[in-house]
Amino acid sequence: AAAGSDCMASESLFSIGNGAMGGRANFEEFFGGRTLQGNYIGGIFYPDKTRVGWWKNGYPEYFAKVLNSAFWPGIDIYVGEERLDLSICRIEAFRRELDMRRGVLSRTFTAVLPNGVKVGARVRRIVSMAEPELGALSYELTLLSEGGAEVSVTVFVEGDVRNEDANYDEKFWEPVALDRESGALTMRTKKTGFEVCWAQRTAVKAAGRPVSGRNVSENERIAERFVCTLKSGETVVLDKFVGVASSLNHPEAELAAAAESVAQRAWAAGFEAVLAAHEQAWAEKWAGCDVVIEGDEAAQQGIRFCIFQLLQTYTGRDSRLNVGPKGFTGEKYGGSTYWDTEAYCLPFYLCTSGEEVARQLLRYRYRQLPQAIGNAAKLGFKGGAALYPMVTMTGEECHNEWEITFEEIHRNGAIAYAIYNFCRYTGKRDYLAEGGLEVLVGIARFWAQRATFSEPKGQYVILGVTGPNEYENNVDNNWYTNYLAVWCLRYASEAAEYVAAQYPDDYRRIVAATGLNAAGDEFARWREVADGMFLPEWTLEDGETVFLQQEGYMDKEQRMAADIPAEQRPINQHWSWDRILRSCFIKQADVLQGLYFFQEAFGRETIARHFDFYEPRTVHESSLSPCVHSILASLTGRAARAYELYLRTARLDLDDYNREVHEGLHITSMAGSWLSVVEGFGGIRVGRDGCLHVVPRLPEKWRSLTFELHYRGAILRFGLSVGEVRVVSVNGRPAEVVVGERCYRVDDRGIQVKIG
Ligand code: BGC
Repeated sequence: AAAGSDCMASESLFSIGNGAMGGRANFEEFFGGRTLQGNYIGGIFYPDKTRVGWWKNGYPEYFAKVLNSAFWPGIDIYVGEERLDLSICRIEAFRRELDMRRGVLSRTFTAVLPNGVKVGARVRRIVSMAEPELGALSYELTLLSEGGAEVSVTVFVEGDVRNEDANYDEKFWEPVALDRESGALTMRTKKTGFEVCWAQRTAVKAAGRPVSGRNVSENERIAERFVCTLKSGETVVLDKFVGVASSLNHPEAELAAAAESVAQRAWAAGFEAVLAAHEQAWAEKWAGCDVVIEGDEAAQQGIRFCIFQLLQTYTGRDSRLNVGPKGFTGEKYGGSTYWDTEAYCLPFYLCTSGEEVARQLLRYRYRQLPQAIGNAAKLGFKGGAALYPMVTMTGEECHNEWEITFEEIHRNGAIAYAIYNFCRYTGKRDYLAEGGLEVLVGIARFWAQRATFSEPKGQYVILGVTGPNEYENNVDNNWYTNYLAVWCLRYASEAAEYVAAQYPDDYRRIVAATGLNAAGDEFARWREVADGMFLPEWTLEDGETVFLQQEGYMDKEQRMAADIPAEQRPINQHWSWDRILRSCFIKQADVLQGLYFFQEAFGRETIARHFDFYEPRTVHESSLSPCVHSILASLTGRAARAYELYLRTARLDLDDYNREVHEGLHITSMAGSWLSVVEGFGGIRVGRDGCLHVVPRLPEKWRSLTFELHYRGAILRFGLSVGEVRVVSVNGRPAEVVVGERCYRVDDRGIQVKIG
C-alpha cells in the first residue's frame, strides 16, 4: 500500500504480535498523515467508567479497555534541518511487506524530502515469538543524493500515549520512573495499577563505523540521539531492541531489571541472531497448521492471513490471556474476551496448536467461575448459578447495553459447548474432572433458574433475551438460546455422572465446593426444565416445519436481504436502529448457529431446509456470520454459495468488505474462516461414532486442498483432491480416520483412498 493512501487500513493489516503483546504497523519515523497508533500488551487494561444515557441497576461500573501503551518502535529522523515524514515527501518507491511465514514486517522506500535530499530506507521489525518480552527492529537509511548530509536520529520509546476510545478523554497511564542512565521507562495504569517497564538498547553504525549516542530522555520518553554525516551512497543502520516487562509477570521491584535484561541480551546477540531465533519459533508454530489451496490464489492468501493472525494473537503460554475480537490490531471491542473464543477460536487452536493450548482457553473460564457466579448473583440468581460475561477481562461483566449485558445469555451455552467440543475432539474427558464439571454446574443452575414455567403453554420458556442475532432484542423463546439451555442441562447431568463414576475423588471435591445435588433433587429439576422446554417452530407452506428464530418472528414483514438496495447496505450504517429492530433481517447465524453446533442431531435434510429459509434473510453484518453459513452450505451441497461466503469471511479484512479495517482486524472471525475450509470444504468432523471423518467437498476451482491437524497425539496431513483422499501421520503417531464408510488406521506410511 502506498504511504499516505489509506494508511490506517495498512496499519491494521500489517500488525504483528506474539501472543503476549503486539501492535499496529505504524511507521517508526514521524508520520503527519492519518494514523492510529496502537501497541497493546495482553492482560493490561483500564476500567473506563461506564458512560450511558440512563443508568440501569445491574450495569457494570466500567468497560475494560485494552490499553494503547508506549510507542516502542519510535525513530525520529532529521536530514539536515528537515524531518523525515513520508506524508510530505515525494515518494519514488514504497513497499510494505508482511512475511507471514517468518512473522516479519518490513518496508522499503525511496523518498525525496522537501529540502530536495533523497534517501532510501529498509526497515525490518518483529515482536519476537521466541522472547515474549522483546520487540526489535533494524532501520537502514541510505543517502541517495549527491554530496553529503548530516543525519540526526532520535531513537525513542514514548510513554505519553492515549486511547482513541476513552469515555471521558482521560489519560490511562501515569509515569512511575524514567531511568535516564539505563534507558528504562516505567509507567503505571491508573485505577488498575499495572506497571510496565520498557527498556531500550540501540546499536548504531554509520558507513560501517559505530556511532555513540547522547541521552536525551525526558518526561515520559526514553530517547537517545545519534548524529552522523553521510556521504552519497552511505548508510546508517540502527538496530533497536526493546524489553517490555509487566507486573503481570514480575514483582514491581524487579520490572526494570527484567526489561533491561531482555533488551541487553538481544542487543548483545545482535539483530540477525534475534531475527533467526524469532523465525525459528515461527517455523515451529507453522508446523502442523498450514493450509495449502492449489488453484485459487485469493483463497490461499485469505486463509494464510487468518492463520497467521490467529497464531500471533494467542499462543496458550498464559491461561490469563485470551483472544480479543481485534487482537493486538486496534482498540475496538476493548481487547476483551467474548463468546467468540469458545464458539469459533477454540476449535482452531485445538486442531492447529494442540490440546494443551486449547486447554488453556478452557482454564481461563474455569479461573473466572467465581466472578461468573458473582455476575449472576448481581442479577438476582442464587445458589452458585453462573452467568459468564458477554465481555470481560477479569471475569467481571463489563458490557453495558442492557439488551446485551442482561439478555445475550446464549454466551453461557457456548462456554459449555466448548468443553464438550474439546472432550469430543480429544477423545478424553479428564477435563471434566479438572474444571469442566464445575463450570457446567454453574451454567446449568443458571438455565434452571432463568427458565420460567408458562401456565398457558404448560412448558418452560425463556423470556426477554437477545439471540446471536442482535438485530432484535428482548425476544421470547429464541430457539437457539432455548435449545442450548436444554442441551446444557442434559450435558451437565451426564458430565456429573461421568465424573462421579470415573473420578470419585474429584467428584467429592466438586460436590464439597459446589454443594451439587446436596438436597438430592437438583438433577431432577434440570431434567424437568430440559424435558419441558418450549422450542418454537413454524409450519411452512409446503407443510414442512422450521425451528423459529423466536416467537413472533413470522409476524414481521418477510423480506429478503437481496431486496435491500445496495446503497443501503450495511443496514447498520444506513437505517435507524428502530427500523432494524422491526425488520426481519438477521445480523448473523442464529438458528443456523445451533444447527451447526449440533449438526449430528439434525441431519442434512433438516439443515438444508433451515439454510434455505434463513440464509436469504441474513445480512451477515457480524463478521462471525458468513463462516457458519459457508460450512452449512458446503455440508448441504450448496457449493457456489459456500464458496462465495468463504471468500467473504476469509478475505473480510484483506478486501475490507465492511469498510472498517482501519479500526483493526476481525481476529475471532478468522477462526471461523479456518473452520469453513477444514470443516466445510474438508468435511472434517468427529462423528457420532467418536471417530474423525473426512468428506471432501472442494470448490470447483480448487485442484487440491492440503491441511494439517493435531489429532489425539498425531499430526495428520490431509491431501484432498477430486476423487482422492490422502492422509499421513506427519509425526508417525497413529490415528484412526474414516473415509467413505471405512475406518483406516493412519501412520507415517499414510493412506490413499479413491472416493466417488
Ligand atoms: C457480534 C457478537 C460478537 C461481537 C465481537 C458483535 O458484532 O454480534 O456476536 O461477539 O461482535 O466479535
